[in-house]
Amino acid sequence: MAFADYQNEIYLNGLGGVLPSFPMDFAGLEAKARAALPPSVWSYVAGGAGDEHTQRANVAAFARWGLIPRMFVGAAQRDLTVELFGMTLPSPVFLAPVGVIGLCAQDGHGDLATARAAARTGVPMVASTLSVDPLETVADELGDVPGFFQLYTPTDRALAESLVHRAESAGYRGIVVTLDTWITGWRPRDLSAANFPQLRGHCLANYFTDPVFRAALPRPPEEDPPSAVLRWTQVFGNPLTWQDLDWLRSLTDLPLIVKGICHPEDARRARDGGVDAIYCSNHGGRQANGGLPALNALPAVVEAADGLPVLFDSGVRSGADIVKALALGATAVGIGRPYAYGCALGGTDGIVHVLRALLAEADLIMAVDGYPRVDDLVPEALQAL
Ligand SMILES: Cc1cc2nc3c(=O)[nH]c(=O)nc-3n(C[C@H](O)[C@H](O)[C@H](O)COP(=O)(O)O)c2cc1C
Repeated sequence: MAFADYQNEIYLNGLGGVLPSFPMDFAGLEAKARAALPPSVWSYVAGGAGDEHTQRANVAAFARWGLIPRMFVGAAQRDLTVELFGMTLPSPVFLAPVGVIGLCAQDGHGDLATARAAARTGVPMVASTLSVDPLETVADELGDVPGFFQLYTPTDRALAESLVHRAESAGYRGIVVTLDTWITGWRPRDLSAANFPQLRGHCLANYFTDPVFRAALPRPPEEDPPSAVLRWTQVFGNPLTWQDLDWLRSLTDLPLIVKGICHPEDARRARDGGVDAIYCSNHGGRQANGGLPALNALPAVVEAADGLPVLFDSGVRSGADIVKALALGATAVGIGRPYAYGCALGGTDGIVHVLRALLAEADLIMAVDGYPRVDDLVPEALQAL
């Protein structure tokens, strides 16, 4: 079945008087999610750093590119598969790590809803360190679909090792080390509500179930949550330097992916340090305001990566955005806020809808504009506007 077939399914349902249960565009999704989520969760997910200029710029950057239509291509069949770490993925899309996704689902188990959506769509999931359900329970829901574990590297190296080894045992296929969030950026929406979910003990299951973390506590987290949260604040953020890369590399034989890279020199150095992929992202503008749209950083990062896979996220809101990021050199494109909103509206079903809609639009653009394979999407296919 082609991704584009989702539209036939919707139109055919319409003949029987059945309308889609979920919004068909990002604006609709966002508006409904806002109404569905508790205000503190909504502002945590929707908000970003400073006056959110970078967050908006991430989105606006896509509008500065246009795909040049090609005719007489006969792109009746499209091939959206991509190769990554020796695996063939059905599409060039993945679910970016979203730390509070657990809280976005109406049943409070959004990590499981995301894993189930991954299993239903074949879209890989990057599971955050910050989750309501432990990484092993999340992995159980993935079936055969690849999962990656995103590591917020703790200051306690033994704890970092424990988390990575648990991820290996649970069957994750790679470790994504996030580099841009060892400290939280200035987020006025969350500051105004004095709300930081983890300080309230949310989304810390991976820590509270970890033997190394537990061994350092005076009493188990179930009996003494405040001490456990206090310990978490002490170990959460490790301001890594290049000197730490050898150690990170030594933690696992799984593919190692570094997230948050936006400078070509950093991409080159990470490559020389033995990483398996570069993840170009500015955390959706949540960490540092006043920065560059991640999309603008992508071409130089791809060039510096010199053949290493480059994952990309930040600002992807439509199938057209996916196509443009691929044309600018991304190997695979991460979806962030849109699936969090889908999760808020319908748990697994809502996320499946968001992914199917994004992929259907990307597939249809490739059909209409005559780019039947992902490899056909090259920088020359785009015109700067
Ligand atoms: C609510 C929220 C929580 C996030 N938590 C994490 C996280 O735990 N780890 C991480 O590496 N990135 C995290 N991110 C960043 C995403 O992985 C991704 O970089 C970002 O969502 C992309 O921007 P976009 O959603 O605007 O497209 C989070 C993003 C959001 C919106």
